Amino acid sequence: MGKLFVKKPLSLLLAEANDTEKGLKRTLGAGSLIALGIGAIIGAGLFVRTAAAAGQHAGPAVVFSFIIAAIGCALAGLCYAEFASMIPIAGSAYTYSYATMGEFIAWIIGWDLVLEYALGAATVAIGWSQYLNKLLGKLCGFTIPYQWAHSPFETSDAGVHGIMNLPAVFILLLLTLLLIRGIEGSAIVNNIIVITKVAIVILLIILGWQFINPANHTPFTIPADAGSVTMHNGTVINYADFWYHGIPGVLRGAGVVFFAFIGFDAVSTAAQETRNPKKNMPIGILVSLAVCTLLYILFSYVLTGIAPYKDFLKEGGEASVAYAIDKYMIGYSWLSTFVTIAILAGFSSVILVMLLGQTRVFYSMSNDGLVPKVFSKLHPKYRTPYRSQAMFFVFVSLFAAFVPDSVVGDMTSIGTLFAFVLVCLGVMVMRKTNPDQPREFKTPWVPFVPVLGILFCLTMIVSLGWENWTRLIVWLLIGFVIYFGYSVKNSKARKL
Ligand code: ALA
Repeated sequence: MGKLFVKKPLSLLLAEANDTEKGLKRTLGAGSLIALGIGAIIGAGLFVRTAAAAGQHAGPAVVFSFIIAAIGCALAGLCYAEFASMIPIAGSAYTYSYATMGEFIAWIIGWDLVLEYALGAATVAIGWSQYLNKLLGKLCGFTIPYQWAHSPFETSDAGVHGIMNLPAVFILLLLTLLLIRGIEGSAIVNNIIVITKVAIVILLIILGWQFINPANHTPFTIPADAGSVTMHNGTVINYADFWYHGIPGVLRGAGVVFFAFIGFDAVSTAAQETRNPKKNMPIGILVSLAVCTLLYILFSYVLTGIAPYKDFLKEGGEASVAYAIDKYMIGYSWLSTFVTIAILAGFSSVILVMLLGQTRVFYSMSNDGLVPKVFSKLHPKYRTPYRSQAMFFVFVSLFAAFVPDSVVGDMTSIGTLFAFVLVCLGVMVMRKTNPDQPREFKTPWVPFVPVLGILFCLTMIVSLGWENWTRLIVWLLIGFVIYFGYSVKNSKARKL
């Protein structure tokens, strides 16, 4: 028990980093960081979860949900950047916390990141499946039957029960194979996808603006007497319930669309490859967040102006953007096809980053002895953690195939929000415990910024409701069982 907060020595961390990374080159400027951020951020959060948040909780005021989520992210992002620039190696919150706050907190963060990366990948894969079906319907005139593209917890309007989501498993398999084979991160492909994603969002805002029906924006928040609706998947929404109208609905909406911002922390992990990180790191994080926030606000304003929010509970509940264009933007069928193809490509790149991030965190944890060695076993030829990648394919697929996107999406949000709370706390702890450790970037106005960050993240956690708190607690309890049953016996830091 006395070693619960054992720290991984910084010297060891640096030695390992030198060994494996051979000193990363400082090549990234502010522009590349912003592109990296936007590439990792825009995905199913915008093209799937926005409609869910608007339809179920916030109505057109989902615009405010985005602002609340963005403020929480910006505050946490400033803390993340200090964390990242303090330990001069590439890595994740798990690595930094091991050296500064000790093993137990590092374990909680590492375990929690599974929710962010693995369940995030599952959520985006489910969104991919929705848009694939839309595209098949448009181009080929057929769709994958409902039961094979939905989880067993969903039922169609016609009463068909879902069995499993096969297309979601298919895209996960394809990308897992790519990752096992080893892909050199191609900056060109990434840049093309980033440009396409931003372009379609801007195009939709501009072209959709003229189709905004002011009646859809009145009233702006959902009134408590909006009635109840049975959703496209069989769930009943009663707008009189607390989190389903007015301001509480906007807050719950913030917890849901928070998903759309996940990934910006990827910027901070590139701290050591950045030129002049003191200046470029905050620019990279804050500008990519600001650009996405602006796009999200305008986009959600247009989307909820084109279609009444209640549509997103019915047939507009899936592939919502393509639905809104097809139904309300008459004459723009080409746009919907183009957008759908771009979304499929964009989602694939987000899934790829998440599956990669997941195995990278477990690779570090395995090297530290906190999870079994199999997670750091490299392929003899491709030098990728192939077994880990394969096991996470199975894990992520189970969620993507058998759980609805609303459940995995909100679990991703709550898990990431919890990690952000720990990161904000961590910055304050480190100012006390390691005051002299050099920091390339310092979070401004400590403790004001981290405390406010914690408050925003906690508000969103609270808004996500007891079902999600229970899921988070159960996940953490499973983590504690593994930690005390396996990790304490095998931890390398404890044996030093
Ligand atoms: N922010 C990413 C998305 O929306 C995870 O898909």
